[in-house]
Amino acid sequence: MPFPLAVLVSGSGSNLQSILDKIDAGHIDAEVRVVLSNKPEAFGLARARQKNIPAIALPHTQFPSRADFDAEMVRVINAHGVAAGTGAVLLAGFMRMLSPEFLRAFPQGVVNIHPALLPSFPGTHGAADAAKYGVRLAGCSVHFVDEIMDHGPVIIQAAVPTLPGEEPGALAARILKLEHCIYPQAVAWLAQGRLKVAGRHVVASGTGQASCGDDALPYLASPALEPGFLPST
Ligand code: GRF
Repeated sequence: MPFPLAVLVSGSGSNLQSILDKIDAGHIDAEVRVVLSNKPEAFGLARARQKNIPAIALPHTQFPSRADFDAEMVRVINAHGVAAGTGAVLLAGFMRMLSPEFLRAFPQGVVNIHPALLPSFPGTHGAADAAKYGVRLAGCSVHFVDEIMDHGPVIIQAAVPTLPGEEPGALAARILKLEHCIYPQAVAWLAQGRLKVAGRHVVASGTGQASCGDDALPYLASPALEPGFLPST
């Protein structure tokens, strides 16, 4: 049976799309059972509906507390066949912190993508913060989610060189392109049961050390991206 996934979005949902595309292409043996958003206008919901995936808006402002909102999300996710141990919850631009109760419902089953090389530049504006800081290597990280923002064990990261004078938006776009490679790759490993977590360390079994790009799209990803997940330039 394809690995059941729930995806939480708050915005455009381009990372959701990258995962759906890799499922369609046969590179990930998983099924997105439901897409949830705290923002009814999130384009990610439209992307799901276009593929006949249940897309549910749950405006957090309509709930008396974070605990109530999170409890309803857990209920909806479970009702769509995504449960602890047998499926996972993917955060794809979901702009809300999750409560300890939510995380306890899916132990080691919640994954996030962040547009910076963690632990540098956690928070809402990771790519822009890195650009403003003047780092020479920026990038993105996929990690398991724990109770601290952008903090849990790292599954895969990709680094990109920054360019002098480059607008933060242009850097963010180059990083996003790699997000669309490393997030589907991490989900494929998860669906294949190849990720083991020991403390802060994640081992992805059978992976290569690193893969790198070229002048058209310079990057270094570790562990190595597998065929089917390499960026197209
Ligand atoms: C991405 O940059 C992701 O890393 C961050 O939020 C953004 C979401 O983009 N967490 P999208 O909604 O997937 O297009």
